[in-house]
Amino acid sequence: MEVIILPSSKEIGALAADAIEALVRRKPNAVLGLATGSSPLPIYDELARRHDEEGLSFTQAHGFALDEYVGLPPGHPESYREVIRREFTNRVDIAPENVHGPDGAAADVLAACDAYEQAIKDAGGVDLQILGVGTDGHIGFNEPGSSLASRTRIKTLLEQTRADNARFFDSIDDVPHHVVTQGLGTIMDARHVVLVATGEGKAAAVRDLVEGPVAAICAASVLQFHPHATILVDEAAASALRLADYYRRTYATKPAWQGL
Ligand code: F6R
Repeated sequence: MEVIILPSSKEIGALAADAIEALVRRKPNAVLGLATGSSPLPIYDELARRHDEEGLSFTQAHGFALDEYVGLPPGHPESYREVIRREFTNRVDIAPENVHGPDGAAADVLAACDAYEQAIKDAGGVDLQILGVGTDGHIGFNEPGSSLASRTRIKTLLEQTRADNARFFDSIDDVPHHVVTQGLGTIMDARHVVLVATGEGKAAAVRDLVEGPVAAICAASVLQFHPHATILVDEAAASALRLADYYRRTYATKPAWQGL
């Protein structure tokens, strides 16, 4: 696990975009794992800018969303399918038919979850998975107590997560209780995971995921078992890390050829 502490979300977005750009230039049909929420927005802004100004192209790339609310009507502006479209895929040249999301409206949710797992496999697996982290340590919507080996399935949100996400809705009463999310096992299959977190509100979750024991109470801690996990945080999100100085020095002295 590599922990990189950067001054602000702008630098975080740029560094994550560097990794995605390098991947897409090396492998044009790369499979990207797409997170929603606020954390990845600077990444999507930077990728859209590089697309507009520098010709970065995603024509052959594929995208798979991490999760989706259950119970929102199709086309609801806060459904993650719409958010991904608005914040990223509509701003670049990725083919709409190459962008996928778990189906939160399926009549047979279990079958839809299995089909989603199969679709990721059929596409060759996720090359780079973008992640945020919840204040309770969730990745995707794998809330505390999630099986560390879980696959795509339905989950119930903690009230803490519903409260955190109420800012996207008119009222907390409108935040669904249920979601469909890639499992922790699904996320762990990605070849590279890049988790981004900013702000003091994420400090405890970042500490637990990076330096705490691997335990389902902090689902993101499973990333300690990932062979290629990059954690990009600002100073506030890094403020509870015991080894912050070590992470800073390691990055400052990192040989350029290593990349991310
Ligand atoms: C979103 C997702 C969630 C968010 C997390 C942090 O697709 O999977 O795990 O990444 O809730 O959300 P923000 O970035 O809004 O703080």
